[in-house]
Amino acid sequence: MVKSFPKGFLWGGAVAANQCEGAYNEDGKGLSTQDIAPEGIVGPLTEEPTKENMKLMGIDFYHRYKEDVKLFAEMGFKTFRTSIAWSRIFPNGDDVKANEKGLQFYDDLFDECIKYGIEPLVTISHYETPLALAKNYDGWVNRKLIGFFDNYVRTIFERYKDKVKYWITFNEINSVLHQPYMSGGIFTDKEKLTKQDLYQAIHHELVASALAVKIGHEIMPKAKIGCMILGVPNYPLTPNPGDVLEAMKQDRENLYFADVQVRGAYPKYMDRYFEENNIKVQKESGDEEILKNTVDFVSFSYYMSSCATVDTKNNKSSVGNIISGVANPYLEASEWGWQIDPQGLRYMLNLLYDRYQKPLFIVENGLGAIDKLVIDEKGNKTVIDDYRIKYLNDHLFQVSEAIEDGVEVMGYTSWGCIDLVSASTAELKKRYGFIYVDRNDDGTGTLDRYKKKSFNWYKEVIASNGKSLV
Ligand code: BG6
Repeated sequence: MVKSFPKGFLWGGAVAANQCEGAYNEDGKGLSTQDIAPEGIVGPLTEEPTKENMKLMGIDFYHRYKEDVKLFAEMGFKTFRTSIAWSRIFPNGDDVKANEKGLQFYDDLFDECIKYGIEPLVTISHYETPLALAKNYDGWVNRKLIGFFDNYVRTIFERYKDKVKYWITFNEINSVLHQPYMSGGIFTDKEKLTKQDLYQAIHHELVASALAVKIGHEIMPKAKIGCMILGVPNYPLTPNPGDVLEAMKQDRENLYFADVQVRGAYPKYMDRYFEENNIKVQKESGDEEILKNTVDFVSFSYYMSSCATVDTKNNKSSVGNIISGVANPYLEASEWGWQIDPQGLRYMLNLLYDRYQKPLFIVENGLGAIDKLVIDEKGNKTVIDDYRIKYLNDHLFQVSEAIEDGVEVMGYTSWGCIDLVSASTAELKKRYGFIYVDRNDDGTGTLDRYKKKSFNWYKEVIASNGKSLV
């Protein structure tokens, strides 16, 4: 029996604009990096958007958001995480004037959420850098991006200051280490990108994130602005001290991003890394002051843990979202090979809280699976997704354990609360939602929405504030 979830716990679900909105070229929207990546991170880019790219239409959330938000409200969501597509507001990223129709769309979306008492939780940049910034500036490698981002965040903060209280600067900011194009809008080929340029780009993002916190707090003194990392804890594969140190090293690689955003300065351990790799991050005067604008909360995605070893002969690798590592012999994996580790979520929460003593927010967690639409006894189309219920139940149970451990957890938004296009593989058949969307990878489908079995299960979890978990 679950002991406690705090009063006011922010239960909800999460999506990203580029994976659900569609309408990629409507109402003045410019192209984003996703619009020419028809296979996600696994395939090549195209010159122009092509009809094979499922993200161009997504699940047509742009036109159907009212119907979808109503379903979220029916489940009892307290919060809904989505992102603003930067190129809907500034089509090329470096435009001076914002696109009014883009701004109006999010006004309408946030109003719709607020109508049902759902707090919008908004990611400012979620893998959808305006394509022109990638092509003309090489994305975040170029310091000019800080200025463009400054303009973008001022515009959206001013516009939505009375509607949005919870903000996240960059989605999985640490993923740029592995996916520089998707995460950092860096057009240079991953293989050709130097570590010098990569860490320079990271510095620009970290400064931009801190600047957003500063500007946000000035414009919206009551707002809560968080950082967001890809949360993959690393376990030593064996008690070999070498493996333990390797796990620490890999954790630092990921956590350095949060260290800067929470503590307001680069951690000492990065000095050695920079020196050994001959990296000289160019900092301008004033950067260190800006970095001191630290976040109000730490948010993260959690899908899996990983193992670390110095045994170079070990080739049992595990795949994952963005990061791949060494497989854990104690864990099972999803249909996509991602290792399932509910206790790892409790571990991650404790790890982050021990390190930062800041409120934590789990803003992504969920199971991507192949669902089968069936007809239930009442003649309604549904999916009997007991596997998803089990996955979510087990993870949420561990969240309650972490809360018992003393960790301050603000909320939980499951990933892809409505089926959407996958980020890494651009598939639709990999479904995460409580709501099934009739759209297939060949582009067929009515786009109709159906409630899965997990819909009512999650409704009950929220209504009981977690007490229904087992
Ligand atoms: C996270 C991203 O890495 O994982 C999401 O922030 C993404 O955008 C999610 O959708 C799940 O990954 P995928 O590849 O299954 O969509």
